[in-house]
Amino acid sequence: MSDSTQSTIKWRCPSNIAIIKYWGKKEHQIPANPSVSMTLSAAFTEIEIDLTKKTNPDTVLNYFFEGKKNEAFEKRILHFLPAVSAWLPVLSTHALTINSHNSFPHSAGIASSASSFGALALGLLDASYPGKYENDRQSFLKEASRIARLGSGSACRSMAAPFCLWGEDEIFSGSNDEYAVPVGPVHPVFQNIADSIIIVDDSAKAISSSQGHALMKDHEFAAQRFEQAGKHTRELLAILGTGDWEKFIRITESEALTLHAMMMSSPTPFLLMKPGTLSVIQTVQSFRKEENLPLCFTLDAGPNVHILYPADISISVRPLLEEIQKTGNYRIIQDQTGKGPEKLR
Ligand code: PMV
Repeated sequence: MSDSTQSTIKWRCPSNIAIIKYWGKKEHQIPANPSVSMTLSAAFTEIEIDLTKKTNPDTVLNYFFEGKKNEAFEKRILHFLPAVSAWLPVLSTHALTINSHNSFPHSAGIASSASSFGALALGLLDASYPGKYENDRQSFLKEASRIARLGSGSACRSMAAPFCLWGEDEIFSGSNDEYAVPVGPVHPVFQNIADSIIIVDDSAKAISSSQGHALMKDHEFAAQRFEQAGKHTRELLAILGTGDWEKFIRITESEALTLHAMMMSSPTPFLLMKPGTLSVIQTVQSFRKEENLPLCFTLDAGPNVHILYPADISISVRPLLEEIQKTGNYRIIQDQTGKGPEKLR
């Protein structure tokens, strides 16, 4: 941090959608299995951090979301900061006022904790070490990923594009449980994927992801699931290199349905799909068969459906989106693969 008593830093961090799902964790947000995600572009969080020099080492934080004081998320950040303070000297020297803004609506099936903790990690790391990473963006993003992970696991996968791998896997030499790494090389057909997010239901989540992860601890099928995720990860990494959409579709849909199958067969079962979720899935699958187009669905831990397809066939996919919109009167948010985080100030 510079010697001046006051400064401002601003970062934009995108959200991401998992293709291979992270579901189940160990202590310190270490994932129970590797996961792979696609980085989005239209869905992002922008964070502006005002830093003012202080005289005592206690954390001083004021957090505003969309211009309003947000005590619930402020509490979550206050819980997160002690876990990362060793990497962020700025926390003991400066008081923080944070203004956060999301480009997408709440409960829209877009991981807001991923982009929010991602942006926070980027801003605080940049403020802690001004200039240090100027010529080494890769190391900066790796450290930001490590910090973001401790706020929300999936946040660590928002630091690179178009795809990130998080979790150690013996066949991918750079992989790590503590931070995500970019996947590569990615075949051109997977470099620009459109994501049409169908908002089937925008009410708040019935269960938090922490509660969901915890249910994998005593899950009867946990070992098999973790093994399957590892196998899918290896397959997907190969597919991303060869550009095989047919195989991509099979793994992506299997992962989405397995995630929900795990929830439904948990020690305390829970069901997050709605009738509309199934209806959209069936419409997607019928359309794919009829039109012979490379498109598929994926789901997060919620009822909303992400439809993925090469951005250059968007015109051919329009009739599908129109049909879905007409039958369910659903809102659709349009997104696509992005380029990763961006410093704004
Ligand atoms: O990052 P968390 O703890 O909110 O967990 C995210 C879990 C899923 O979104 C369901 C899957 C994933 O890999 O993003």
